[in-house]
Amino acid sequence: MSLIREQWGTRAGFILASAGSMIGLGSLWRFPYVAYDNGGGAFLIPYLIALLTAGIPLLIMEYAIGHKTRTSAALAFQRLGRAAAPIGWWQVAICFVVAIYYAVIIAWAIRYIGFSVSLQWGGNPQRFLNEEFLRVAEQPGQISTYVSGVLWPLVAVWIITLGILALGVRRGIETSNRIFVPLLVVLFGILVVHSLTLEGASIGLDALFRPDWSAIGDPRVWLAAYGQTFFTLSVGFGIMVTYASYAKSKADLTGSALVAAFSNAGVEILAGIGVFAALGFMSATTTLPVDDVASQGVGLAFVAFPQIISQLPAGAHLFGVLFFLSLVLAGLASLISIVQVVVAAVQDRVGLSRVPAVLLVGGVIAATSIALFPTDQGLMILDVVDHFINDYGIVGAALVSIVVVGWAMRRLPEMGAHANATSVLNVGWSWMIVLGAVTPLALGWIVYESVLAEAADAYNGYPQWFVNLFGWGAPAATIAVALLLSILPWRDPQRVGLITFQKGRQR
Ligand code: ALA
Repeated sequence: MSLIREQWGTRAGFILASAGSMIGLGSLWRFPYVAYDNGGGAFLIPYLIALLTAGIPLLIMEYAIGHKTRTSAALAFQRLGRAAAPIGWWQVAICFVVAIYYAVIIAWAIRYIGFSVSLQWGGNPQRFLNEEFLRVAEQPGQISTYVSGVLWPLVAVWIITLGILALGVRRGIETSNRIFVPLLVVLFGILVVHSLTLEGASIGLDALFRPDWSAIGDPRVWLAAYGQTFFTLSVGFGIMVTYASYAKSKADLTGSALVAAFSNAGVEILAGIGVFAALGFMSATTTLPVDDVASQGVGLAFVAFPQIISQLPAGAHLFGVLFFLSLVLAGLASLISIVQVVVAAVQDRVGLSRVPAVLLVGGVIAATSIALFPTDQGLMILDVVDHFINDYGIVGAALVSIVVVGWAMRRLPEMGAHANATSVLNVGWSWMIVLGAVTPLALGWIVYESVLAEAADAYNGYPQWFVNLFGWGAPAATIAVALLLSILPWRDPQRVGLITFQKGRQR
């Protein structure tokens, strides 16, 4: 049993690891299409409001909880009070669900690096993606085909991820982020600059930023903004609690939170600009409106981009390799943080040392991911699970954590004071009012309205049984698992936690 809690080597290492977790598929793949789908330029208003009034304040709260309790999410909430224990397990369970599909998108991107070299998608990337590569079934139903083309890159993703995690917080996670994050920024920077020089770039930027003001009145747009903010900042699902538990005592929590969050927001806006400049080029080349070339979600990266790459006058292969390599790097750094939440929970709760915990936890997550996603149902399951686990699971867990910590336990002043004690920049009453009052009231209303709207029409036209099983089923299962795990009689949990806690503080 590892008794001494691991720590980040430096404060920069802590910030880089946080930024590496934040800058992920959510920033590069998800943000552009979510923004576009939810009012374009008008989406930036709810997004900025969600970032400033909920995302960053919650990030500071999570940093304070992890840093103060010196333990990962599962135990951290319990340390605040017995009644809060299910929140920690809920967040761990969400990470389990997110990890199993997140890895698959990285696996696709790995294959697309290779496809870019020979422009293998040919003249019809949509058909290539659905029929040749993923062999998607026509209808949701039983798994009938196993797709080996997704299987081996997925196995590779899991070997890399678990290998890095097995090396530990400093040697594995921190070192990999020191390589991945700067490399990603350089590669993606080159890509964005190149996109902006393409003919028609301004048409795409106009489509992205032209506000559709009617969207502002739709609660689902606001929910999408909060969901995207939490997902991208890695808050609401235990990651930042866990990462802060490895920070040194003088971690400057508020300063670190601001640096990491604004770096992520910068990359995200850059991603939106780069992706839509490229779509503008596509629109100019095909004379189709951007609406038609910007297919939703998954399609944006794996259909629209290949189309764009094929049309490029020069450097097509390089552009493709850069784009999909950026996705892989960003995705890996985030996947590592997501799996680490579950690994750390098992370490802290059961007292397992790192390597057995990585093998056990990682093995179960990887096996579930490999069993479910390289199949003819994989794409559809991913689409539905991603929507519901983000907008209802993560947002729900974030909301409940704020209500329980802030209202039921009245621990916000203590968390604020803890953050301030480590930091140059202090939070005060405004942080408490915004986080403790404005955000839960606004979020509560938004979630309520969105559930009603969601119930009225099935997500993306999927059959209702499929939406119930994989959509509503995903957040519901995480809640059930959380309740179960929080009442299990763990073997001497306080002692395991206490030893780790005290030893960690001595350093
Ligand atoms: N924050 C990570 C992302 O945006 C999970 O992909």
